[in-house]
Amino acid sequence: MKNFTSVQDVQDINALALEGLSLKQSPFSNKAIGENKTLGLIFFNPSLRTRLSSQKAAQNLGMELFVMNIDKEGWRIETEMGVLMDGDKAEHIKEAAGVISQYCDVLGIRSFPGLTDRNADYSDHILQSFLDFASVPIVSLESATRHPLQSLADLMTIKEHQTNAKPKVVLTWAPHPRALPQAVPNSFAEWMNQADVDLVITHPEGYELDEQFVGNATVSYQQDEALQGADFVYAKNWSSFQQYGKILSTDSNWTITREKMALTNQGKFMHCLPVRRNMIVSDAVIDSPASLVLEQANNRTFAMQAVLKSILESN
Ligand code: CP
Repeated sequence: MKNFTSVQDVQDINALALEGLSLKQSPFSNKAIGENKTLGLIFFNPSLRTRLSSQKAAQNLGMELFVMNIDKEGWRIETEMGVLMDGDKAEHIKEAAGVISQYCDVLGIRSFPGLTDRNADYSDHILQSFLDFASVPIVSLESATRHPLQSLADLMTIKEHQTNAKPKVVLTWAPHPRALPQAVPNSFAEWMNQADVDLVITHPEGYELDEQFVGNATVSYQQDEALQGADFVYAKNWSSFQQYGKILSTDSNWTITREKMALTNQGKFMHCLPVRRNMIVSDAVIDSPASLVLEQANNRTFAMQAVLKSILESN
């Protein structure tokens, strides 16, 4: 693997997920592969899971690493080309990407969307600039449009818990007080389209995801109907793609409760975290044995480990 920014960078998602699950069984078995290699992690936005699981993955592989919260600790970065830099932005992304590449062998980048300009966000400009100007492989730590490390960990979690060959997986919108990106649902849908699952996406009208991510999924505006017989319920909020970045609903009828889970096939509950309790999901569900949220978070380490191993082996 050269870079890891979307499902398109992966030759075989099932093989990569199984590699992650194998590394989970023996996390320190590949220590030599990272010897004298450094992982750089650059965050334009906050993180708990991605940051810590990536650090742990690098350490498990014997890598050194550095982390920088570039929005708080670095010079303000100009991201546009051909501009007169006479304002408060002292460093251009072209030099920043080139310079950081001098200090590491693999570079992870997290950059969220602004949620005001859809075309700008969906060009994934910051991630693309690092792909253009860095000289080392790039791993997306969540971009404006996708969160592939989360999706890989989610696929691993589904594989660990599925009880039939083709589980029904329901991605459901749920309410939230803030406008959130579409990156997690986009990415989850993109990966599930390539996995051996029956994918249903349910949300209120106006929350349709970009068609390129929906793929062959069944889309329903009726959450109760969609949840019937589900083996996995993946809850997530996102803001509108059509009325870009807008909150169109905070309808609490979409919160995942015990009653909603009773419609499923003894389904498991999933969420990428962080989660707003009793907005997205009731305490009773997230605290129940059906909840896989901590397993998903644990699998983030081994998802990153599988990605780093693949990149180090092929670069
Ligand atoms: N799920 C996830 O990416 O969590 P963080 O934003 O805390 O990294």
